[in-house]
Amino acid sequence: MPQTLAGTAARPFIVLDVPGPPCQTAAFTLPGIIMAANPVSFEEAVALLKAGEICAFPTETVYGLGADATNSGAVLKIYETKKRPRFNPLIAHCADFGMARSIAVFSPLAEKVAALWPGALTLVLPLRPEAGISDLVTAGLGTIGVRVPDLSLARDLIAAVSKPLAAPSANPSGRLSPTTAAMVRAAFHDCVPVLDGGACEKGVESTILAVDGNKIVQLRAGALPRSVVEAATGMPVEVAGEGAEVLAPGMLKSHYAPRAHLRLNAESVEPGEAYLGFGRHEGPSGALNLSPAGDLDEAARNLFAMLALLDEKGATGIAVAPVPDEGLGEAINDRLQRAAAPRDGN
Ligand code: TXA
Ligand code: MG
Repeated sequence: MPQTLAGTAARPFIVLDVPGPPCQTAAFTLPGIIMAANPVSFEEAVALLKAGEICAFPTETVYGLGADATNSGAVLKIYETKKRPRFNPLIAHCADFGMARSIAVFSPLAEKVAALWPGALTLVLPLRPEAGISDLVTAGLGTIGVRVPDLSLARDLIAAVSKPLAAPSANPSGRLSPTTAAMVRAAFHDCVPVLDGGACEKGVESTILAVDGNKIVQLRAGALPRSVVEAATGMPVEVAGEGAEVLAPGMLKSHYAPRAHLRLNAESVEPGEAYLGFGRHEGPSGALNLSPAGDLDEAARNLFAMLALLDEKGATGIAVAPVPDEGLGEAINDRLQRAAAPRDGN
């Protein structure tokens, strides 16, 4: 029997309790959900997540594809929807430090770093096995990635569900992370319910740090510059090296990829290429510019949306202006390098 969501009688939105193909396109099937109203309301998002369904939601970095982190059936839907390799663990999003402490073990140093929450910072810490987090979230590792997002809408959602929400970026695996609800809907052919919170303030994903004994190691450059962590803790932040053991299984060389081929550090365009400028590198008239003023915050905010726009316009090649490698530029260049890396046919 189809079950109507509590409090949503006015909207034609139902969750089926039997798997079915109601939302199906040639490219994509999401079993069990009829999307008659998208984006969904806050109450609908809460009800979906409580019912073990997935729902995309905004954070200050990028949109996440959320599910109750304690419900393996729900978390499995994230992997299936994204076509994400199961070895790649998910970040558990918490409403506050208390919830984070209930699922991960914080050393005194980890607590010091966590004082930067809420924010664009994920900490990889020892898991509390008794917390009931699904093994699918951690991909069987003894650690868990935890984050308290800065966007109050995200924290309110987690608090209302009263469970940590597992949420990778809300894009098909290996593709660009979405920074608007419209990007999420387009990426999944409108088959994924989305809570719309407007455009993401930061535009690139969180910085991931492992706190290991007396060391802080950056596993992924992100929206919180390393220098901020160093200033707050008085400790150096090491960068996990190329040859190092892969500490963040998701740091695949080719990732965040648009369809078009990317050429980096380009000061001019070649025939047939679209140009993505930065600062004074403006390219030909009509080209997009990540930030005409050369502002890295603005560039990060525009990065994924502009790459997606050039992709939509059917550019086969995108030449990207040089972006300085300082502060947020580290995360921007990291994403650009992964987007430019050779990929295996996807
Ligand atoms: O800003 C963000 O971090 C966004 C928003 C939605 O919060 N989320 C995000 O998730 O970027 P995702 O799944 O696209 O990237 C998470 C990364 C992956 O590279 C994964 O391998 C790594 O975090 N990760 C998660 N848990 C880990 C763990 N226990 N140990 C090492 N790496 C972990
Ligand atoms: Mg991602």
